[in-house]
Amino acid sequence: MQGTAPGGIALNLEYRPNPKQELFHRSTARYRAFIGGIRSGKTYAGAWETLLELIKHPGLKALVVSPTYPILNESTLTTLEAIIPEQLLIEKHEQKHKWKLSNGSEILYRSADDPDSIRGMEAGWLWADELARVRTDEAWKRGIGRLSQRGMPCRAIITTTPRGMTWLYDEFVSNATPEHFLIGARTDDNRGNLPGGFIENLERQYSGAFLQQELYGQFVGFEGLVYPDFSPSHILEVLPTRFPRVIAGVDFGMTNPTVVLPIGLDIDGRAYVLDELYQCNHTINDLMPQIQQMKARYNISAFYADPSSNDLIEIMRRAGINAVAANNDILAGLMEVQSRLKKQADGRPRLFVSKRCMNTLEEFGQYRYADNRSTTNPNERPMKLFDHSMDALRYALMSCKTRTRPPMHLIIKPASQYPSPYGRKF
Ligand SMILES: Nc1ncnc2c1ncn2[C@@H]1O[C@H](COP(=O)(O)OP(=O)(O)OP(=O)(O)O)[C@@H](O)[C@H]1O
Ligand SMILES: [Mg+2]
Repeated sequence: MQGTAPGGIALNLEYRPNPKQELFHRSTARYRAFIGGIRSGKTYAGAWETLLELIKHPGLKALVVSPTYPILNESTLTTLEAIIPEQLLIEKHEQKHKWKLSNGSEILYRSADDPDSIRGMEAGWLWADELARVRTDEAWKRGIGRLSQRGMPCRAIITTTPRGMTWLYDEFVSNATPEHFLIGARTDDNRGNLPGGFIENLERQYSGAFLQQELYGQFVGFEGLVYPDFSPSHILEVLPTRFPRVIAGVDFGMTNPTVVLPIGLDIDGRAYVLDELYQCNHTINDLMPQIQQMKARYNISAFYADPSSNDLIEIMRRAGINAVAANNDILAGLMEVQSRLKKQADGRPRLFVSKRCMNTLEEFGQYRYADNRSTTNPNERPMKLFDHSMDALRYALMSCKTRTRPPMHLIIKPASQYPSPYGRKF
């Protein structure tokens, strides 16, 4: 593919779309979705479509949105940067989240977990990558609301793996208008660009609805959710800022993420997941500065960690973190979380999650039992997928379970003995 940049610089743009990418590029609908299995070429297609528009329309402001800044940096922007010809990208302004091209076009990138940052700007193009991972359509709606740049295409594309029957299904299937276009892709459609054996390996590991979603890119309902009671009523935008006690749950990983969840416990034992550390491919030592920061920021008194990783617990202890081997009774832990999700007599549940904990919220929507599970076996375990935050949460909540509030007559004691919210005694 050839192109010409301003000043007549010839650009050698090497792109051979796979057949599904080709169909996606051909559509001129105002709202286009490339809904595909993992590694089906979604991000690559979105990046090329966006780059070609930026070249074709000098001065275009393209808004690029991903669920979080780590996803933006590690996938969406990396893919985009790899295909932008060197002479075209003249400035990267990290603080303003803006890249400038030599033809006057701009890339403005934002994270969906900070939807306020998508206010008050003008754009002529929107590319939303992996946005099905976000539980609401807020970022998408805000993004398309910015498409008012005069003389520009003012169209939007979304490239994502589906995540059950969510807002994306409503937007592009049940409530689709003639302005909507959807192309579905299977991982297999991108076979030519993937390593040998990649697809076969996943086909052996996945099954049922999960296979249909992850490899075939289909919208599927998840009958076997572990926490079907989790709902938007558990997600809070604004959380209390002071707690008598803050603990953390820790699940260790390497290819899988290491997760640390700080959890505030109020006087009634209600739990608030305040934040999340969710990082793949880092050792516990690499993550220690972030963990220390979290500890100081939330005044975390104890970190309840996966008891099978004693060596990592020890490393945390040596770094001055109060790491404790957690109770790993899976079935009791699942029941503890489930019971906290149920509404109490006052109409409120006993577990809330901050809206900023994108990965944890996603896991609540994905953590499930195998499709072929025996409904008669109460000891059935969930699948070992989307279970990292879920495990960290379980460790923390099981470990504070015994510390419920004693009856009133047992807690009458001099005021001097009450712990202050800052962890000191008055
Ligand atoms: N048309 C193409 N030509 C060459 N390589 C391609 C093409 N399309 C995709 N690829 C390559 O295939 C791999 C997967 O593509 P991409 O990252 O776009 O998939 P994805 O569906 O976004 O994956 P994920 O599910 O991880 O987000 C990447 O290595 C990408 O460079
Ligand atoms: Mg991708």
